[in-house]
Amino acid sequence: MSLSPQFLDELRHRTMLSALIGRSVKLQKAGREYRACCPFHDEKTPSFYVNDDKGFYHCFGCSAHGDAIRFLTEAKGMPFMEAVKELAQAAGMDVPAADPRSAERAERATGLVAASEAAQSWFAEQLQGIAGAEARAYLAKRGVPDDLVKAFGLGFAPDSRGKLKAALASFGNDTLIEAGLLILVDEKEPYDRFRGRLIFPVRDARGRTIAFGGRILDAGEPKYLNSPDTPLFDKGRTLYNLDRAAPASRKAERVIVVEGYMDVIALARAGIDEAVAPLGTALTEAQIERLWRLVPVPVLCFDGDKAGQKAAIRAALRALPMVGPDRSLRFVTLPDGQDPDDLVKAGGKAAFENALQSAIPLVDLIWRHEAGATALDTPETRAGLRRRLAEHAASITDQGTSEQYKLEFRRRFDALFGAAPPRQHSEGPPFRERQPFRRGDFRKPPPRPTSAGARSIGKSGVDRMFARAVIAGLVLHPGTAAAHAEALAGLELGDPVLERIRDALVDAAFTGRSLEGGGAHSILADAGLEAATEELCRTNGLAFSFLRSDADPSRATRDLGEAIDVLVTRPLIEQALTEATRTFGTTTDEASFAEQQRLTREKQDVERRLMDLMQPEGE
Ligand code: UTP
Ligand code: MN
Repeated sequence: MSLSPQFLDELRHRTMLSALIGRSVKLQKAGREYRACCPFHDEKTPSFYVNDDKGFYHCFGCSAHGDAIRFLTEAKGMPFMEAVKELAQAAGMDVPAADPRSAERAERATGLVAASEAAQSWFAEQLQGIAGAEARAYLAKRGVPDDLVKAFGLGFAPDSRGKLKAALASFGNDTLIEAGLLILVDEKEPYDRFRGRLIFPVRDARGRTIAFGGRILDAGEPKYLNSPDTPLFDKGRTLYNLDRAAPASRKAERVIVVEGYMDVIALARAGIDEAVAPLGTALTEAQIERLWRLVPVPVLCFDGDKAGQKAAIRAALRALPMVGPDRSLRFVTLPDGQDPDDLVKAGGKAAFENALQSAIPLVDLIWRHEAGATALDTPETRAGLRRRLAEHAASITDQGTSEQYKLEFRRRFDALFGAAPPRQHSEGPPFRERQPFRRGDFRKPPPRPTSAGARSIGKSGVDRMFARAVIAGLVLHPGTAAAHAEALAGLELGDPVLERIRDALVDAAFTGRSLEGGGAHSILADAGLEAATEELCRTNGLAFSFLRSDADPSRATRDLGEAIDVLVTRPLIEQALTEATRTFGTTTDEASFAEQQRLTREKQDVERRLMDLMQPEGE
């Protein structure tokens, strides 16, 4: 049956939404609208509004939003056509007669669903039978309890080319082929698609089985085999576990996207039912749209490895044009080499919830991807970054959101590279007032005390800019050097000039020379670093408080101390984390897992501290 947009518009127009909703929800008049406690989530104070003029409802608490048809399908769980029929009847409209072709399609689909459902029951029976012993052992080994085997309808396809075909013979080969259950090659005899595999039924939003995924029990290729696209099953529009996750997401007020079947099941075991997975492909626009019908900001979980990060940015860029005031994404990067299944196995629900805590907004992911990836030490590379950021912002269809992204990227860019020369220097560089320095007076810096050995900061453009900002801060607030001399001394800054400036200040601090009141400047001038220092201070970002002449001095020194600490700690944590991840990868014991988790949290913490430092004042 096909319904024209005109018909649906007329239907909405003729339906008094408040009357429809008022049948099951107690509505209170509130101006031109009605207000109620939201039927989609638990609440005590009403934040659910019904607007008859516009013909939609909206909840400011859980963002449930829709029209009359949507209300019946979402709140009442009615299939779309039934909702239309009910509304049409109430509105005295005739539902257009079914066109024969679509009726035929619907009938065929019904046959395919019946075949898929029958296959699901048969696979489930096999799992419990003699042939299923190995698969049952496998599930036990992976810690899937019986109640979840049932809830997810798991099954087993015996290693045979004809058992399913025989068991479902009453459906006829044509239907079984069309449902993707049999494979037909040329004119040969069709045979069972799934053989010797653990079966994961894929269900649509209404809980009807429409496809299958089959996992091999031992090592072999391919690991998972999925149903082909069929009239019932469109891989790019389906989400595994949506039927269970949709109601759960209303309660939990969140939805989590993971990569695989086993991740979804592992989370369910940990009591997290609001998880879905795409079916072995990158997340599509249609799937993202579907998620937004559940919650405004779904959380996407990806592996910490290269492939996972690539998938994350791919999903981010795909979603970007569609984001808006009430729809976006958040991203969780899991510790390297771990999927949610591994995570809950090792650390239970807490480990996963913990990882969720570190979710970053879409804007951060894109910023991190662009600004963190390449060196940004030339005007050309910085211009490249500027352009890429502008392009991303421009790709957003919603004007207001696009505008905000532009501003936000601009703010962050300026925070790193500065919009204009710092005022300290445009007002007259302090160096000019100093006695002339002796050109070419290069002193080799004395050996520095290095307790922890050489530690080198990261290699990305952001790392480099950050190191420059900190050293510039040190020049402007040399009094801070003494307190951090030890920490700063051993740090490899990846830039010989920076290191010489640092050495000059740190050495002076160690030998007790006064850095205050111009002391630092004469020391730097003595070391032949006057021009380099001036250049450093001129080209740095404004947004760190310790680089701004208008910043509150006590905040500037506090922030500088914090920045030095972040600069020093970050590489240490990174290094420890790499080691811990490697250890964990080989031993998999509780203690090393806990250590690895602790370091992951520390790393996230230090990243957040760095971000906070880059916030413009007042935010
Ligand atoms: P993974 O390789 O991460 O598998 O693929 P997994 O879900 O962690 O499974 P286990 O823990 O090894 O058993 C993630 C998802 O990608 C799809 C499947 O949907 C899988 O759940 N996939 C993977 C395929 O479709 N085919 C494959 O060969 C592999
Ligand atoms: Mn896995």
